Amino acid sequence: MNSILNSYLYNAICFLYNMQMRKKVTIIGAGHVGASTAQLLTYEDMADVVLFDVVEGMPQGKALDLSEACPLYRSSVSITGTNDMADIKGSDVVVITAGIARRPGMSRDDLLNTNANILNGISADVARFCPDCVVIVVTNPMDVMAQLVWRKSGLAKERVMGMGAILDSARFRTFVAWQLKVSPEAVEALTLGGHGDQMVPMPRFTTVKGVSITELLPEDVIKQLVERTRNGGAEVVSLLKTGSAYYAPAASTVQMIKAVLFDEKQVLSAACLLEGQYGVDGVYTGVPAVLGKGGVEKIIELDLNAQERSDFQYSVNAVRGLLEKLNL
Ligand code: LAC
Repeated sequence: MNSILNSYLYNAICFLYNMQMRKKVTIIGAGHVGASTAQLLTYEDMADVVLFDVVEGMPQGKALDLSEACPLYRSSVSITGTNDMADIKGSDVVVITAGIARRPGMSRDDLLNTNANILNGISADVARFCPDCVVIVVTNPMDVMAQLVWRKSGLAKERVMGMGAILDSARFRTFVAWQLKVSPEAVEALTLGGHGDQMVPMPRFTTVKGVSITELLPEDVIKQLVERTRNGGAEVVSLLKTGSAYYAPAASTVQMIKAVLFDEKQVLSAACLLEGQYGVDGVYTGVPAVLGKGGVEKIIELDLNAQERSDFQYSVNAVRGLLEKLNL
């Protein structure tokens, strides 16, 4: 009798523990970026995952496959695949990767109208089912799509952010590390502005153990690394030929999810709504920010020199141009 009671008690405690502790992350769009993000969340036992896609069977198949990896990952998360938006209800974080990806010869901006139409509908559903969530927008052209989701969902600006600058910085870190023959982990990098061809990698704020690369590398080499970073997404697209990058985008997205779910107060670059910071008003673009459970908790304003400020403005103007096309 005692052991039955104990086991009931144990199950009740586990249930309450899971109810209290388990976080829920929805990924809208179960393509390569979405599925890779789900895989990392599962592998790291981080949160229950809902994979949503409009293609019937596809998110369910990927969710089943991932569930079957859980015993091997020693993970106890639940992964659900669905075509029903109602299943996203109550998510702590919603990641939007839905939309088409670019092919060789296309820029991120060529995806504007198609992806705007897709995200219009999604934004309303997210606001309806998850009014308290934090949204991370990955769909390209990302800065504009983040702005669209913020406007159409009606969610607070702090709760809508875009993933791009972490990825651009990760690419910059990689290329700097290869050049200097050091571990990529030893390199900190900063990229500002839109996640497009006019993005602004910032050599002065890119360091190896605190030393700026402007003191470690000649100017012409830095220029090449900056160019390669700007072209980083297209370089992968031109090799894959059938779509765009997904491993590094997914890893970047998971950093942001983790910062929000665990209220880490990490300083990460994200596309945030600027309201006067950096002399910009009413545009989503990449800047360093403190990310925690409230989403974007603080935007960090760096002291830019004249050249950096002008490069940043140029990038913001490119985002503005796309916003005007969508009347946003
Ligand atoms: C890239 C896409 C995900 O930069 O924007 O690879």
